[in-house]
Amino acid sequence: MTKGIKIATIGGGSSYTPELVEGFIKRYDRLPVRELWLVDIEEGKEKLEIVGNLAKRMVKEAGLPIEVHLTLDRREALKDADFVTTQLRVGLLEARAKDERIPIKHGVVGQETNGPGGLFKALRTIPVILDIAKDMEELCPDAWLLNFTNPAGMVTEAVLRHTNIQKVIGLCNVPIGMKMGIANALEVDPSRLHIDFAGLNHMVYGLNVYLDGVSIIDDVIEKLASGDANYTMRNISDMGYDPEFIKGLGILPCPYHRYYYKTKNILEEEKEHAKEGKTRAEVVQQIENELFEIYKNPDLKEKPKQLESRGGAFYSDAACSLIDSIYNDRRDIQPVNTRNNGAIAGIPADSAVEVNCVITKDGPKPITVGELPIAVNGLVQAIKSFERVSIEAAITGDYNKALLALTINPLVPSDEVARVILDEMLEAHKEYLPQFFPKETVKN
Ligand code: G6P
Repeated sequence: MTKGIKIATIGGGSSYTPELVEGFIKRYDRLPVRELWLVDIEEGKEKLEIVGNLAKRMVKEAGLPIEVHLTLDRREALKDADFVTTQLRVGLLEARAKDERIPIKHGVVGQETNGPGGLFKALRTIPVILDIAKDMEELCPDAWLLNFTNPAGMVTEAVLRHTNIQKVIGLCNVPIGMKMGIANALEVDPSRLHIDFAGLNHMVYGLNVYLDGVSIIDDVIEKLASGDANYTMRNISDMGYDPEFIKGLGILPCPYHRYYYKTKNILEEEKEHAKEGKTRAEVVQQIENELFEIYKNPDLKEKPKQLESRGGAFYSDAACSLIDSIYNDRRDIQPVNTRNNGAIAGIPADSAVEVNCVITKDGPKPITVGELPIAVNGLVQAIKSFERVSIEAAITGDYNKALLALTINPLVPSDEVARVILDEMLEAHKEYLPQFFPKETVKN
């Protein structure tokens, strides 16, 4: 291997790229990145130029010999890469806005990774990721694929079960966000905390919390119940839970659990946002416009503070620590999306789960959890069924499977509502769904 690491980032024109670049700069002493290839598609060319030039300025300012390459040629970027990261959004924010708006009209939560939005994001994204995996087989078969693209759990599972690329890990900032939120509420340094994470992507629970090795879950539950430890992410409402419900639950929900345990309240809030033209996609569009204006400034040489208004806080820390631990065989514990292999009882062995793992040079080794508490096991199982059927629909383009996926999703109240939403969303996203509309002109 040539000295130093080659990284290819697909969707490199994303506004999140400075996060990643900052993470590599901070860790250069132990993670010597030689080449960073930022790849995008024709439609993303302008953003790629802007964010790529900022990345180059950041590296230059840090005085590091990292070569930053900007390209529309994915194959050139993948050639002999050591790590491939994916942070793409098929159909851009316009597609996200449809995922969020259409279900609300029919009385169903509109969110990009849960419910109908999650299904459609999977239908648009999975075929593109499988294509990338095919290119990797040919151009960098030994590389690790680190997927940040949502729905991260489903995308990871699709690669695991439907390609020859087995060195794939799905990464999300929800667990690290929860840890930071709790550390903040307890006013302790996050390095003193450890949380036993288990579940699925955007459906993960903290089963136990330790401070300096001593379990403090009961105190944290008390604080959560009293509203003194109310953590969330920028993209999710911070509405609190009924205190008695939280005490009954006895474990930590993730911010996305509000969609399931506070469905009615979230839906009302979303309806208001939609009325005001402020769905999350629309808010993010505004933030993105501002961010790219800021990125254009030739005097800017570091990640700007304003990036913190996106939901992906700590994303670079999560991503870079993962790469660091694989590259350096650190054998530390990190929550990632990986093949279950029996870690969580009742979930198929070949399915992706989000669980604490020991991160080694040979990848994540999941830590056995056993059975999840009975009160949450059913929901996790239901979401896993939804994910598996959605993946099947994404790969086959089978209408009945897509309808089945939507109908079994706990956020959808009936088969009839599922059908109305499905038909409207299929039509709205047609150009990005070649598996359902083989004769249409489609884009990736
Ligand atoms: C959270 C989730 C990510 C998601 C992001 C959306 O951080 O963990 O999976 O992509 O929020 O943030 P945005 O700013 O795009 O709404």
